[in-house]
Amino acid sequence: MTAVAEPITQKPAPVPEGSVMVTVKVARFSTENDKGAYWDSFQVPVLPTDRFLNVLIYIKSYLDGTLTFRRSCAHGVCGSDAMRINGVNRLACKVLMKDLLPKGDKTLTMSVEPIRGLPVEKDLIVDMEPFFDAFRAVKPYLMTSGNEPTRERIQSQADRARFDDTTKCILCACCTTSCPVYWSDGSYFGPAAIVNAHRFIFDSRDEGARERLDILNDVEGVWRCRTTFNCTDACPRGIEVTKAIQEVKRALLFTR
Ligand code: SF4
Ligand code: SF4
Ligand code: FES
Repeated sequence: MTAVAEPITQKPAPVPEGSVMVTVKVARFSTENDKGAYWDSFQVPVLPTDRFLNVLIYIKSYLDGTLTFRRSCAHGVCGSDAMRINGVNRLACKVLMKDLLPKGDKTLTMSVEPIRGLPVEKDLIVDMEPFFDAFRAVKPYLMTSGNEPTRERIQSQADRARFDDTTKCILCACCTTSCPVYWSDGSYFGPAAIVNAHRFIFDSRDEGARERLDILNDVEGVWRCRTTFNCTDACPRGIEVTKAIQEVKRALLFTR
């Protein structure tokens, strides 16, 4: 995960042939000045082949080298560039500008803010530690007893399929930071932690389900979820987040 914090050498801003000028409003904040939180606005030439991440890189490269955001893979895999784009949580590298560019004479104004519910450190970068604390609290690793096996732990295809969806999580935090319960009280574990608990609770090779279920039965656990589906809508991996939470609730009510 890379924090893009250092200014890149400013060069004349190129305007590629075929590009369309887009107004981009960016939420800014820095402890290095006394401006507090405010909106900045940039005019960026955008090509249909761009992702929104390219727009941010353009601003940083040519318009304002102090703009700060995280990114790493640029291909929807590392989960580091979650941000609130036009009011919804998205990975900047997965927002295709061809889907947003206006037709004809219309103009396009976009906004980008940090994800909500976590402390803002600078511009679009938030402190992810509270999010990872909740992830660690559900013990997201294989728990077994007895001697180490001498070969791999066998699992049927049907047993593997039971938790396939929740293996896809890239810990981007789009779900947790779109959750109104998490906004109102950060002590809620949040959907991402529950998704990662689900991944092991329903793994036939694991023996830690009871322990994790007890953790999630806590006052800050699954029962705080109000089934509003914001998390499912926000997930860039298409994980059925709310369904996973419901399955954990059912496992608590009945048996796994
Ligand atoms: S379904 Fe539950 S976890 Fe997901 S956003 Fe709604 S309240 Fe939060
Ligand atoms: S469940 Fe989806 S939205 Fe939530 S952290 Fe994992 S990949 Fe991101
Ligand atoms: S930069 Fe890795 S997911 Fe977007």
